[in-house]
Amino acid sequence: MKMASAAAAPLLLLLALAATAGAVTFDAINAVPDSAGGQRFDRDYGGVEYAKQVLSEASSFIWTTFNQSNPEDRVGYDSVTLTVVDNLQPGAVAVTIGNAIALRAQSVAETNGDAAAVKEGVNGVLYHEATHVWQWGLQDYTAHWGIFEGIADYVRLKAGLPAGNWGQPGEGKQWDEGYAVTAYFLDYCESLKSGFVAELNGKLKDGYNDEYFVQILGKTADQLWSDYKAKYSQG
Ligand SMILES: *[C@@H]1O[C@H](CO)[C@@H](O)[C@H](O)[C@H]1NC(C)=O
Ligand SMILES: [Zn+2]
Repeated sequence: MKMASAAAAPLLLLLALAATAGAVTFDAINAVPDSAGGQRFDRDYGGVEYAKQVLSEASSFIWTTFNQSNPEDRVGYDSVTLTVVDNLQPGAVAVTIGNAIALRAQSVAETNGDAAAVKEGVNGVLYHEATHVWQWGLQDYTAHWGIFEGIADYVRLKAGLPAGNWGQPGEGKQWDEGYAVTAYFLDYCESLKSGFVAELNGKLKDGYNDEYFVQILGKTADQLWSDYKAKYSQG
């Protein structure tokens, strides 16, 4: 970049200070570079540098989705770290604790398809896991995990990265069964009121409460689920 003119310098300084105030560092570590999954992470996915870029883009996308342009509204982490590991329990693709995301190398190794398929699959997982880093209310995760997993997959859906094994909108038995079922239901709620998910996430800061649906949309979650199911049963 060329030097800015003297007149522009104070503005640049101001912008630099503003960026520092909300600065978050994104890190990625491939702890198992010699494993099949670790090798594929480096070769097909794009490695740690690409992962850091995706974590940064995912975080910006999440803050926008949550209507958190003001950093003071966000969960206060100053870093997010991805580690590619080979010791997560079988069946788990990734686990997020606080601001630390662990990705199971074997799940990268087992991805069907070419490098583009690996990129799309891992990026979908990273958008989901990064949502866990930034969403409010996880103190109630154990009692109400379905809403938190639903919001994480809602972000993945809105980012255009749904997984290939997701069902269709309108499927599912109850609104809070989590993941794609809840994600599609939340997307329906969002269609009733733009900003619904952002508002819900903001309220979750105080922990989960059934009343949030009534407060935002004037109906209980069960009523909204009935409306949603009726909409999709009309074919
Ligand atoms: C986003 O948040 C601001 C307050 O920070 C609020 O005024 C605005 O209505 C919100 N937008 C949506 C779409 O919820
Ligand atoms: Zn999750």
